Amino acid sequence: MTEHAQQFVGKCTFETLTRRPVYTDLFVPGEKILHISLVRECDWVVIAPATANIIGKMAAGIGDDLLSTLLLVDLPKVIVTPAMNTGMWENPIVQENLCKLGELGVGLIAPGTGLLACGERGTGRFPETEEFLEALFYLRYSPRNLAGKRILISAGPSREWIDPVRFLSNPATGLMGCALASAARARGAVVTLVAGPLAVRGPGGVTVIPVETALEMEEAMQKEFEPCDGCIMNAAVSDFRPTSSFATKLKKEQYPDFNLSLVPNPDILFGLGQRKRNQVLVGFCAETDNPLTEAKRKLAKKNLDLMVANTVVKGESGFAVSTNKAWIVNRKGESIDCPIMDKVELAGLICDTVASLFPQ
Ligand code: CTP
Repeated sequence: MTEHAQQFVGKCTFETLTRRPVYTDLFVPGEKILHISLVRECDWVVIAPATANIIGKMAAGIGDDLLSTLLLVDLPKVIVTPAMNTGMWENPIVQENLCKLGELGVGLIAPGTGLLACGERGTGRFPETEEFLEALFYLRYSPRNLAGKRILISAGPSREWIDPVRFLSNPATGLMGCALASAARARGAVVTLVAGPLAVRGPGGVTVIPVETALEMEEAMQKEFEPCDGCIMNAAVSDFRPTSSFATKLKKEQYPDFNLSLVPNPDILFGLGQRKRNQVLVGFCAETDNPLTEAKRKLAKKNLDLMVANTVVKGESGFAVSTNKAWIVNRKGESIDCPIMDKVELAGLICDTVASLFPQ
């Protein structure tokens, strides 16, 4: 803890809650040299929250207390989570320092947006704990094989409204699409996520474009497709929508023998396949029967580079479960047979396969 950190929370509180020693002084007599041994004996050095001051000291190579001195020892072990007022966060000197540290291998967990300690609203807020831990995990365990690539991903279901209180949809939660967005971002990609209504927490550090209907999703995907390097169409799009939707609630007395008339929705992925230039284009198909045959057929029909086929088995694979049984099929018809695995893990495998298709 720095001297300033102890102004916020006392050393004793941290020692009691963590049951770990808390170090504050650079000069502690003993067998080991503290600022070296602390770094050598750990896997990561995480500064959370990191002030503009400590970031500035790191970037300038200043060591004038225990923390700033130990940070000089092994930069690639360091991860910072800046937390400060928006004005400070947007200060070009702070941003320049962060870029410099990034180039030297220091990991960054971006701050969140919302209410700040000073009462203002904006970017600079310490991320929610779950987001922070997830980002930390991804940062440390992911290769940087999508660095600088722009990846467009769609997630979740679409909703096709019948009247203001009823819609046609499917059980997709958006878990797989959000896992893909997080995995791509952790690999260094700049990610845009076009998301139908999500039943899970959206990923941090990516641009989210919320949509509801297949037509809205098509518009957003078409708009974002041009500048992207890779596109993963994971959303479960409704193939049909009501021919017309009612402006007011349907009353059953009014329509005793109600029949719903439907029209087909556009095939969004097919449309992207037609426009594709050098983008890597990936589709998904959830099948109850013949997943591999269907994957190969749809890959060819939609002009894709990869198709991820998964089975739909209740509680094991498909909608609203945390695991998937999948195959990743390429244009040559070769497939990776993935065992049942967590969607987060599968997302990483898919992103690595996408990364392998970009010219090295
Ligand atoms: N897809 C799409 N637009 C649609 C339907 C599907 O973009 N209107 C995309 C999905 O996001 C997925 C891929 O196409 O990436 C395959 O979806 P799937 O529903 O399996 O294929 P369909 O072509 O709709 O064939 P079917 O439903 O007859 O199996």
